[in-house]
Amino acid sequence: MINEKMNAALNNQVNAELYSAYLYLSMQAYFQKMNLTGFVNWMNIQVQEEMAHARGLYDYIQERDGEIVLEAIKKPDLKWNSPLQVFEDVLKHEQYVTSLINNLADVADETKDRAAALFLQWYIKEQVEEEASVSGVLETLRMIKSDANALLLLDRELAQRTFTQPVIG
Ligand code: FEO
Repeated sequence: MINEKMNAALNNQVNAELYSAYLYLSMQAYFQKMNLTGFVNWMNIQVQEEMAHARGLYDYIQERDGEIVLEAIKKPDLKWNSPLQVFEDVLKHEQYVTSLINNLADVADETKDRAAALFLQWYIKEQVEEEASVSGVLETLRMIKSDANALLLLDRELAQRTFTQPVIG
């Protein structure tokens, strides 16, 4: 059975991942208004990934005979003036999630929960990929500035992203 501290920290992360899904869903709506269907696709996949991250933690808590406690999900801020601003916020958010995952790994170490430490390796690696993929889009957006044609080209590229159900743990 999982210890209380580790259990509570994992429950908090379920909430953080669901908030991430909620945040990206609000960003998806922003791009829908702009008719940028490739960005819509990118965000839609991001939402699915975050739901999978939450599910992975949920299943793990259950597997360790822990207790699931679901708290309220906070409302995302909706204050973007451009795709660039959106992706600046995505990167900031993913860097924050990375810090949360690192804190979780610290709790696993403190509580000598070797199994949880091993499980969290997947999330640590996933955050490296998440930050890299977001940084890639952000760099392109910085180069694009206000070039509408270049923005449409990027939109077409983002339309190619597909979702693969991750195998977590
Ligand atoms: Fe679940 Fe985007 O980190």
